[in-house]
Amino acid sequence: MYCDYLVQVFTARVCDVAQESLLESASNLSTRLNNHFLTRAIFDRMQIPPADFGPGNLNALTLGNYNKVGLVGWLVQKGIMPPSKKAPFRVGLEGAVNYPPMWFAADDNWVQWFAQIHHPGARDWIQSVSSSAVRPPKMISALKEKVFLASIDFDNIEQIEDSLDRLRPPKWPENVLGRLDRQSIDRGKLLFAENCAQCHVQSYEPPNSLGIKVKKRLAYDVGTDPVAYQQFKEHGEQRATELLNLANKMLQLREAQLTKKFDKDVAANYAKHDSQGRPNQFGLAQEEGYSGSEKDSWEKSGAVYWASPLEGIFASSPYLHNGSIPTLSDLLSAPEQRPTTFKTGGTELDPKLVGLKGSGSFVYDTREPGKGNGGHSFGTALSTEQKVAPIEYLKSL
Ligand code: HEC
Repeated sequence: MYCDYLVQVFTARVCDVAQESLLESASNLSTRLNNHFLTRAIFDRMQIPPADFGPGNLNALTLGNYNKVGLVGWLVQKGIMPPSKKAPFRVGLEGAVNYPPMWFAADDNWVQWFAQIHHPGARDWIQSVSSSAVRPPKMISALKEKVFLASIDFDNIEQIEDSLDRLRPPKWPENVLGRLDRQSIDRGKLLFAENCAQCHVQSYEPPNSLGIKVKKRLAYDVGTDPVAYQQFKEHGEQRATELLNLANKMLQLREAQLTKKFDKDVAANYAKHDSQGRPNQFGLAQEEGYSGSEKDSWEKSGAVYWASPLEGIFASSPYLHNGSIPTLSDLLSAPEQRPTTFKTGGTELDPKLVGLKGSGSFVYDTREPGKGNGGHSFGTALSTEQKVAPIEYLKSL
């Protein structure tokens, strides 16, 4: 097996062990990785494509199902649970999204790419449970005692939220990446106002009951890959109800913890303050009335994503919700001219094309499900020379 071969190379090179013990090490390692292989095998049987999006991408909402597949497989294998006679449920990992710029996270009205969750706490807790909270064998006792929610590290999550509150968009470091051209910025500002600003603006909601003004940004269908959106939309109502139930359980748990530690008032206020007064709600951008109007001329894919503000955008490559476009220059090129494959996982920035330099080791293939790089053809009709200006302007934000 290819994996055995890799184990051999690894143990020989890194651990410097004798040839005879290589196979023993390989078998030890594969026992440890068994659960992972089992999950993979179940996925193969269910004909679920690997849909590996590589570094910087995550499908947190579906990852919970992924863990469940692994867990159920493991329980069946250990003889703790009988094999199911029902067809396995569909797990869609191909709707992974790229981390959006985190400096907007603290005060946006929605906390997901497709306007799906208002409450940052609910988002964090659910991701905490779905991505790693408890794994086998701890899961067994946790399931028995119904305490799996208690594995959420609320204090830690609150610290992360606090640090996000302090995060600001980075400024283009002229001394490292080169000086900005002021004239070009001015020209770019005009082109941006004509071609882009109608969507990429951020306004303030009226102050909420706590007097906090949350920023509002809109979402549109601009013809980009629909998979991530549709994956949630499929059974959207049911998912939203389930997630809301789960979020409410978590909230109760946190309130109970806080009541024990402090008093009832602190606990009662917790939910309000932690969410900055945003409701513990789930939704879909289209249902919220976003998406632009019928007569808009650009192509549509049936999926609605945020048009984010663009401060610090040079530092947030690759672009679009699925991270399918490596540089700003590629984003302003016609979809068919954008790179079909590129490398992610590196940390080098290309200051000219503005974005990933492509020095990583993961090959992102835009032909795979959920990874399409089409749509958003704004500004693509500008000439190569004209394009320099809006890019210079984006660098200066
Ligand atoms: C009709 C609305 C609309 C217009 C006009 C528009 N955009 Fe966008 N833009 C969007 C939406 C929606 C997305 C998110 C699409 C997605 O992720 O699939 C987006 C994404 C982006 C992103 C990637 C953001 C990220 O975090 O990855 C950049 C950069 C961007 N637009 C720049 C521009 C520029 C420059 C222009 C003008 C030349 C422009 N946009 C015009 C709606 C618009």
